[in-house]
Amino acid sequence: MKKNRVLTGITTTGTPHLGNYIGAIKPAVEASQSDQIESFFFLADYHALIKTQDKSLVHQSTKEVAACWLALGLDTSKAMFYRQSDIPEIPELTWLLTCMTAKGLMNRAHAYKSAVQDNSATGEDADHGITMGLFSYPILMAADILMFNAQIIPVGRDQVQHVEMARDIAQRFNHHYGTFFELPEAQIDEDHETLLGLDGRKMSKSYKNTIPIFLSEKQLRKHVNKIKTNLLEPGVPKDPESSIVFQLWSAFATSEQIQEMSHQFSSGIAWGEAKQLLFELINSKLERPREIYNELMANPDQIESVLLDGAERARHHSLEFMKELRAAVGIQSLK
Ligand code: TRP
Repeated sequence: MKKNRVLTGITTTGTPHLGNYIGAIKPAVEASQSDQIESFFFLADYHALIKTQDKSLVHQSTKEVAACWLALGLDTSKAMFYRQSDIPEIPELTWLLTCMTAKGLMNRAHAYKSAVQDNSATGEDADHGITMGLFSYPILMAADILMFNAQIIPVGRDQVQHVEMARDIAQRFNHHYGTFFELPEAQIDEDHETLLGLDGRKMSKSYKNTIPIFLSEKQLRKHVNKIKTNLLEPGVPKDPESSIVFQLWSAFATSEQIQEMSHQFSSGIAWGEAKQLLFELINSKLERPREIYNELMANPDQIESVLLDGAERARHHSLEFMKELRAAVGIQSLK
């Protein structure tokens, strides 16, 4: 049976938080255990350069994201786990694809469009502060995907358009040069989509409302205590549906525990007590991974060697494929 190839990238511009864990890391690590699936996960460090010029942020985030996925149980003998910049065939393919991409297609990319809109709202020139990196970043993302002929691309809703663009670009290449690429499809995990942050908006680094995955126990407790609640007193029934505490509980709890907490809400559990239980639950799930994470962060050469090993395996495929693609466009030895 042919395996499904699943691929996703993580941009290295921040510290992974519980929203990333529930929405992306946990489902990805679990799916990678399946024998029907071949998983490719990579640190999108070239993508990071589109968003920031802070080199220590990129460097630190690369280390943190890698340590995080490893500590949370990614089995690198099953999944391919690598750093984008260790695969030079990716930027090489990006160029071939750039020459196949209509500028009009990139004009429609929403990240670019919203930057233009922001400029017009503030009366700036339309191109103010917009780099070619931002403009053409869907092509880099297409190269990430097409390099490994991945079919299923788990992403957040904001990335669906980019996966569709990768399809368009692949089709155009196939049309001109012969069928080299499979057409990828975005996959959105509806169940785990949005975890709310401390303030009740979507948990996101841009809102500064996150709970990082690997805080010390003390810091984790502090963050949980900061979660916004209403002013209902102990003994007054509380609505689980509208509660951030309950939503976080549900993300970590078993179905029995969810039921139980739902009863406790109806019978008026005090917010302080609910938060204490929530802290204990999250902490119990993260205690062991936290130890592994701290060990890895203290020994970055271990992380480095895992990544280099992943890159070497990934390049078995990308080097060969790139040779074929180069020949397909007429770039090959004259002998
Ligand atoms: N652009 C994606 C994001 O910001 C990350 C990413 C880069 C990616 N390359 C990818 C996701 C390829 C899926 C496939 O979330």
